Order: sequence, then structure tokens, then C-alpha cells
Amino acid sequence: MTKIRLAELSRAFGPVWAVRGVSLEVREGEFFSLLGPSGCGKTTTLRMVAGLERPTAGHIYFGDDDVTHTPPQHRNVGLVFQSYAVFPTMSVADNVAYGLRIRRVPGAEIRRRVAQMLEIVGLGALGARMPGQLSGGQLQRVALARALAIQPRVLLLDEPLSNLDAKLRVEVRAEIRRLQRELEITTLYVTHDQEEALSMSDRIGVMHAGRLDQVGVPDEIYRRPATRFVARFVGEGTLLDGVLVRDGARARVAVGGFEVPVGEVSAPRAGAVWVCIRPEGVRLLDRTAAGGIGGIVEYVEFVGPSLRADVRVPGLPRLLRLAGSSVDLAGRVRTGDAVRLAVDPAGVAVGPAEAPEAEPVAAGGGARA
Ligand SMILES: Nc1ncnc2c1ncn2[C@@H]1O[C@H](COP(=O)(O)OP(=O)(O)OP(=O)(O)O)[C@@H](O)[C@H]1O
Ligand SMILES: [Mg+2]
Repeated sequence: MTKIRLAELSRAFGPVWAVRGVSLEVREGEFFSLLGPSGCGKTTTLRMVAGLERPTAGHIYFGDDDVTHTPPQHRNVGLVFQSYAVFPTMSVADNVAYGLRIRRVPGAEIRRRVAQMLEIVGLGALGARMPGQLSGGQLQRVALARALAIQPRVLLLDEPLSNLDAKLRVEVRAEIRRLQRELEITTLYVTHDQEEALSMSDRIGVMHAGRLDQVGVPDEIYRRPATRFVARFVGEGTLLDGVLVRDGARARVAVGGFEVPVGEVSAPRAGAVWVCIRPEGVRLLDRTAAGGIGGIVEYVEFVGPSLRADVRVPGLPRLLRLAGSSVDLAGRVRTGDAVRLAVDPAGVAVGPAEAPEAEPVAAGGGARA
């Protein structure tokens, strides 16, 4: 097993800094995701790790080896991209054998490893098929088997599920995770899909405009976002700007005339903050309950097992989102209903207001979420 370490890795394209001083370590056998919006520098980072892109500054280590200047074919990485990148005129088995042939592995060993890899990705019976005869999910498994056949030191995946439909995405993502655990291969996974990152990763690095905003386990990223950007990009909820007020041990954030209770806040002591109220932090009270916050349901969304509702609260600049089991909430929230809500501090994240950062030189596709 090999750990990957990036030290102050940067990449400029002309005047545009696609990646700016990214330092992180992917531990041995770890599944690490780089998560961020379109244009934030995920693919550029991954391509530098693969050796397909030259860093402008910084270093890349595999274990103790500095591979910053090692050509891609000598890095021994397994790569899977968004587009299937399976050779259309080669059979499934030949596709998986490709990297082994290039490395002049003996024929008998190639046959053995191809059969083993196809078995592992659940395509044992399909070796003779041509790619045109496979579904998208099967094609992506071929790409995965091909990447793994060379027994790479590290596995690099760039949005490998984005061409699959919703159901297959969930299936293949479980498959990738099972394989990764089984082979204990250090994996760097790139995605803009927070659900994918939260559900698959040991740890996540959230990227924003070329920089790494936060690194942490999924629960940390979701519950204790380090920046306003991470709070907004990961998970849903109502993001507000306000002022932190302390009253002995109790803290609350004043937003206009409204006060949001917050739990244990390490920093800041007081002053300008952002606050993010997650839907699970908003509880629906009985209509007759005293206290709570009154509001009018503006929008209800039914998503099978759960239900989401956006509630307009007088004095709050944004709608408050509420979510719960569709059984619990059935008939209790309908568009136009007057409701009473309570905010649970455990479902609220807060952090110091950030000085507005100078936008990086605008580049195509660099939209922020
Ligand atoms: N070859 C290139 N030449 C010039 N600019 C580039 C090049 N490759 C990437 N960029 C720019 O670098 C920035 C980061 O691009 P990158 O492809 O790494 O983003 P990404 O996070 O992978 O986005 P997406 O989610 O859309 O794939 C973007 O502003 C992009 O336009
Ligand atoms: Mg990309």
C-alpha cells in the first residue's frame, strides 16, 4: 500500500491558477475524495497525480518516492475517467489485458489476471463481448478492471459515475467501494457530487477555486463545515449571515430580528458569523404548541421516504428548510399552511464571517456553486 502526499501543489494555465497550494495526504489504503464545484481544480489535481499534467510548483510523493517529475507510464497508477475510455474495437478481455500487454507480462499470466479481474468486477461471463454490446455500468466496470489489472500503486478516479443513470450510480458506487476495500488500494476519487463523496469516502477534501477549504471525515465536513463555502456546498440548509451573541454559556446568532440558537461554538467569541441551519435541525411543533417560530409553508417536496418543506419566517431573509420522514410529516405540512417550528442547536453550524476573498482570475467554467 502506498500513501499519496501532495505538498503545496499548484498549476497555472497562463494567468489562471487552476490549483493553488494544495497540500494533503491520502493514507495507505484510504478512499479519499476531492469534492468541489465545476472548475475548482479537481481534474487538474488528479491529472498532476497521474503525471498527465506538469505542476507549476509543489511536489507529489508516492510513499517516500518523489514522483513529481516521473513520467506517467512509470508511476504505476490505475486511472478511470468519466468517459468510459474503453477501446471499442477490442473485446472486453482484450481491454482489460491492454496494460498488461504493454508491460510485456507473459501470456498465461495475462489470461489468469484478466479472468480474475473480470470475476472481481462481476463480468466473468462477458470477456468475449465487444464494448458496443455492454451497458454503461458494465463499460465502467471494464474500465475499472483494466485500471486494476496492472496492480497499480494507487487508483485515481475522475467522476467515473457521472454517465450512469441514478440507480446504476448507486450500484456501481457500492461496487467500487467494495473492490477498493477488498484490494486495499489507496484511492483518490474526484467528484462534484456531495452525496457520492459523503457516502463513499473515508475522508473528503473540499476544493474551492483551486484551494483546499477543508479536509475531514464525511461527518465532520457535514456537521462542522470550516468555511461558509463548505457549509453551502455540502448538504442543504439555510445559510444566513448574522452576529454571534453570548449570554453566559448560551450562544445565539442574531439575524435581523430573529435569533438562531447555536450549540458549543469554539470560535469566534462574538461578532460577525455565518450560520447554517440544516433541515434536520428544524422541528415541526404541534399547531397548538406555545413558543417556537411561526411561518408559512411556501413549498413542499415529496421525495419518497422523506419530505422537504420550505417555510417563510417573518424577519428571516431566507426560507427555512424542514425535512423529515414522509410518514411523520404526512398531512402536517401543506403549501400555504401556518406552522410552528423549533430550531435544534445540534443541527446548526456556525463559523466566523470571512473577509471577501479576491476572486481568482475568471476562467471558463469557473462558476461557484
Ligand atoms: N488545459 C487547460 N488550459 C487552460 N485552462 C485550463 C486547462 N485545464 C483546466 N483549465 C482551467 O483550470 C480550472 C480548473 O479546471 P479543472 O478541470 O481542474 O476543474 P474541475 O474541478 O475538474 O471541474 P469539473 O467539475 O467541471 O470537471 C478551470 O478554470 C479550467 O477552465
Ligand atoms: Mg473535472
